[in-house]
Amino acid sequence: MPVSAIIGAQFGDEAKGKVTDYLCARADISVRYQGGPNAGHSVQPGEQMVVLHQLSAGILRSGCVAVSGPGMVISPPSLLDELEGLRRQGELRGELRVSERAHVVLPLHRAQDGWEEKVRGVHATGTTLRGIGPAYMDRVGRWGIRMADLSRPEIIKQKLELLYAAKKHLRDEVPDLPSIDTLTEELRQQGLALKPYLANTEPYLWGAARSGKRIILEGAQSALLDVDFGTYPFVTSSHPTAAGALVGSGLPPQELDDVVGVAKAYSTRVGSGPFPTELEGAAADRLREMGGERGATTGRPRRCGWMDLVLLRYAARLNGFTSLAITKVDVLGGEPEVPVCVGYELPNGERSDEYPPVLAEDLEAVSPVWRTFPGWGEFTPKLRARLAEQGWRALPTELKRYLAFIGGETGAPVTVVSYGPRRDETVEVPPNAFETAAGISEWHPN
Ligand code: IMP
Repeated sequence: MPVSAIIGAQFGDEAKGKVTDYLCARADISVRYQGGPNAGHSVQPGEQMVVLHQLSAGILRSGCVAVSGPGMVISPPSLLDELEGLRRQGELRGELRVSERAHVVLPLHRAQDGWEEKVRGVHATGTTLRGIGPAYMDRVGRWGIRMADLSRPEIIKQKLELLYAAKKHLRDEVPDLPSIDTLTEELRQQGLALKPYLANTEPYLWGAARSGKRIILEGAQSALLDVDFGTYPFVTSSHPTAAGALVGSGLPPQELDDVVGVAKAYSTRVGSGPFPTELEGAAADRLREMGGERGATTGRPRRCGWMDLVLLRYAARLNGFTSLAITKVDVLGGEPEVPVCVGYELPNGERSDEYPPVLAEDLEAVSPVWRTFPGWGEFTPKLRARLAEQGWRALPTELKRYLAFIGGETGAPVTVVSYGPRRDETVEVPPNAFETAAGISEWHPN
């Protein structure tokens, strides 16, 4: 700890929410630092499942402060609904602070997202249609409305007039956008409702870090959806990386102590874009069924495939993972064999093990080189009881070897293993315990 970033290491939906919630047991503050209502972090603190979209996992723990940080794009009405939903579920326990610098996602952004996807046709990104890309475009284009503006109707109105003038073509395409006066009034009211939570979150975080408070920087989406380093153009519009955790929270680099990469024991992807280890047909259906692989925000069925170590090694270097949390190992329980992609064969016959091709078209064209591991057994109630009692040592030997291999290949030891959605379906592992058990002593150079 004291300041840890939690980063999705694949294509999103790695169960970062579950891992963040688990690690929040020993955190004082958790911070969402990018993304917005496109995220869906499923957490099961007790019997009921909670899905967080714009709130960080600390909101579920009393004594914890959840920050929605400056790098986010926030839909105010959705945030208010989310808060109300949690309150109704009896799960609103933490304290909330929302950055005044965070940008506002407007109805116009959602309309633009849908319209752009239509224009792209067969080349559509498969976005969540939540207006994320257009909101970030307006941020860098300097058209954006920020949370701080919401208490100043005259500024909202002036900015909306500019924005609506600049996007006249959209107003023609999407006739049912709210009028400037209506939207100004709605935003003013939403600003009033959110006023108790609005804060300058950077000075708060600087002070907290200096005084040794334990802070978790909770990424949404994932490294491979990063706008620069992901599978462009099939990416989100922010930086879900360790570097992005600093830009998006305002904490300086020296404060970051640990970077935890979160990966599933297999892979999934929603939306379009290259996916070298993707499975088709019945094999994909089985994983989807066993893993409940449907989008937490959009309900879309997720594409499913095996673990891709080229992408995981790349994510490990890009983010400097100090450890890995591997989730959903129970979903593969009972598979006779577990294939892992250890390298790519390129169309020209060359091999690439560490660095994926830059062009999405070229990543589409690689052939995975497989290594197959013996499977581990099902996660029966008996095994689960033993895990609850004895911790990581009770994990099946074949699974320990699989996890040791992943740790060895990425240079980041697996220190958290999740075998179900509940908080208590998690074991922690001392660094390098699996590697020692499996007789792996050589790390790949990092
Ligand atoms: P956007 O973030 O809605 O603009 O979508 C851009 C791409 O990121 C699409 O492929 C989405 O499916 C993907 N994406 C966005 N949010 C998530 C997420 O929370 N999990 C997984 N994929 C996501």
